[in-house]
Amino acid sequence: MAIRVVVHADKQAASVAVAATIRDLIRRRQAEGRTAVLGLATGSTPLPLYAELVRLHRAEGLSFRNVVTFNLDEYEGLTGDRPESYRYFMEEHLFRHLDLRPGSTHVPDGVAADQARACAAYEEAIRAAGGLDLQVLGIGRTGHIGFNEPPSSAASRTRRVHLDDVTRRDNAMFFARAEDVPHGAITMGVGTIMEARQVELLAFGAAKAGIIRRTIGESPHADCPATWLQLHPACTFHLDPAADTQP
Ligand code: PGA
Repeated sequence: MAIRVVVHADKQAASVAVAATIRDLIRRRQAEGRTAVLGLATGSTPLPLYAELVRLHRAEGLSFRNVVTFNLDEYEGLTGDRPESYRYFMEEHLFRHLDLRPGSTHVPDGVAADQARACAAYEEAIRAAGGLDLQVLGIGRTGHIGFNEPPSSAASRTRRVHLDDVTRRDNAMFFARAEDVPHGAITMGVGTIMEARQVELLAFGAAKAGIIRRTIGESPHADCPATWLQLHPACTFHLDPAADTQP
């Protein structure tokens, strides 16, 4: 199993390509009278993808009535009405612009009283929905996917994690003060992500070139969690030229 790497002209072209893949999945499922189950990511990287999905909905009439979504992660301690939360991010940039059915979007609960129980329930909800058809991923400079910071085993499931200092610094721009970035988060595990039938990872810009090189070049290991994707049967990396390190 090898990761398929596609280098696009720019991040807009990459985002349009991944959006087309998602559109085709949704339409295929509609034709079958079934639900399409999407795993979604936050961060700067998927913004042009979400803008393109909104465009497809508005301009091409792509309906999301048969779509169920599960986000990768959420900050610990933030309720969904906080602008820095990933629930808020998703509502702002995607959900509220689409015709999703009420209750069809899921983001881990950052303030659950019993986090172990909430994480187990999240896994169960994914299973009950039929499993993830397609997971969208970004990648952090630590090699994290979701918030699976090093070390994260291939068997890890949805759980509370401690955020790496590099990740907290990289995400500080979304907070008023750097010290406001939470130290903890809830994330789907590597094992959860690996069970998605299809994985589409996006990485743009020169700051990601080093970690992409490691992810493709190193044998799978817990200290660079994205390397586990080498063992996935249907994983594609969508890069812009700056993130590309292929000879
Ligand atoms: P970014 O984050 O899209 O903001 O670069 C990606 C990630 O941390 O997975």
